[in-house]
Amino acid sequence: MLAPTSPTAGEAAAEATAGLRDRHGRTATDLRVSLTDRCNLRCTYCMPEAGLPWLPKPTLLTDDEVVRLVGIAVRDLGVKEVRFTGGEPLLRPGLVGIVEAAAALEPRPEISLTTNAIGLERLAGPLVAAGLDRVNVSLDTLRPGTFKDLAKRDRLDATLRGVEGAAEAGLAPVKINTVLMRGVNDGEAPDLLRFAVEHGYQLRFIEQMPLDAAGVWRRDEMVTAAEILEALRAEFDLTPDPAHRGSAPAETWLVDGGPAKVGVIGSVTRPFCGECDRTRLTADGQVRNCLFARGETDLRDLARSGASDAEIAERWREAMRGKLPGHGIDDPSFLQPARPMSAIGG
Ligand code: 5AD
Ligand code: SF4
Repeated sequence: MLAPTSPTAGEAAAEATAGLRDRHGRTATDLRVSLTDRCNLRCTYCMPEAGLPWLPKPTLLTDDEVVRLVGIAVRDLGVKEVRFTGGEPLLRPGLVGIVEAAAALEPRPEISLTTNAIGLERLAGPLVAAGLDRVNVSLDTLRPGTFKDLAKRDRLDATLRGVEGAAEAGLAPVKINTVLMRGVNDGEAPDLLRFAVEHGYQLRFIEQMPLDAAGVWRRDEMVTAAEILEALRAEFDLTPDPAHRGSAPAETWLVDGGPAKVGVIGSVTRPFCGECDRTRLTADGQVRNCLFARGETDLRDLARSGASDAEIAERWREAMRGKLPGHGIDDPSFLQPARPMSAIGG
């Protein structure tokens, strides 16, 4: 007998309740939620010095709307990890309550935060009490003058206090994200690693991606993963980390035999799109199936129009089905997304 060509009722039901699968065999289980497009810094790779036209307040998801959408992702779509980002998520007044509501979901997701750490010494305790599991801090330099050139604000001390506050609140290991830019902070890789090892922080270098608001990123000016490794090897002994890489984008090395580790995320030269397990929600309620997606899917107006959780879940599944196999940064036809990083969320 021939196999049936149309799905059985059971198969159709399974499809309708399935997770966020795309046509290239990937399933998204890691949700990145941007809670605001605003920031108190102006890192050049992310935001112009003058700021941007901020998203108008009525277009932003309310705290309750964020919690509802995260709940749909976790309960109905198989999301296992929720990372809150920005802009700068610590600027969102309702952050602690949102984390608390996310931590109350069943099954409970892993909850993490990507932040510049300004104000974290005050907020880390309440966030941990609310259920925050992990934190990634963006720190690109240990030199006050370079910090001011790079982030356009004189806030290195505030950032360092925040990182310490995170560690004191028990968020271990604190991960640090560093983007190196040629002629700005590219000489600091070994210093940053020494600092991280001394404090027990886990450092990861991220190749700069074309997500700057000014659109001046140039492939041939980017500091590559290979260059970063070479600079580190001049001062440290790096051996491949025997722990399995899985879908984690960072390739990790043991520093001087371990246990300290360093990661290098070759977003551009060693893309990990084939293992990508991410789905993104912007502060104004748009699903992006990739950082570099050209299109978005609106869940905000759908939710506000009275749609059911099942209808929202199905729209989200549709949004993910069309995810492209890769970011295509090396294609001649590559176009930078219309939103800069600050309005997408790391
Ligand atoms: N390229 C690479 N990483 C970036 N980040 C922000 N903008 C870029 C970019 N253009 C990183 C920051 C932060 C996280 C949100 O993403 O270092 O840690
Ligand atoms: Fe703000 Fe983070 Fe962008 Fe820096 S990278 S401007 S801290 S959102």
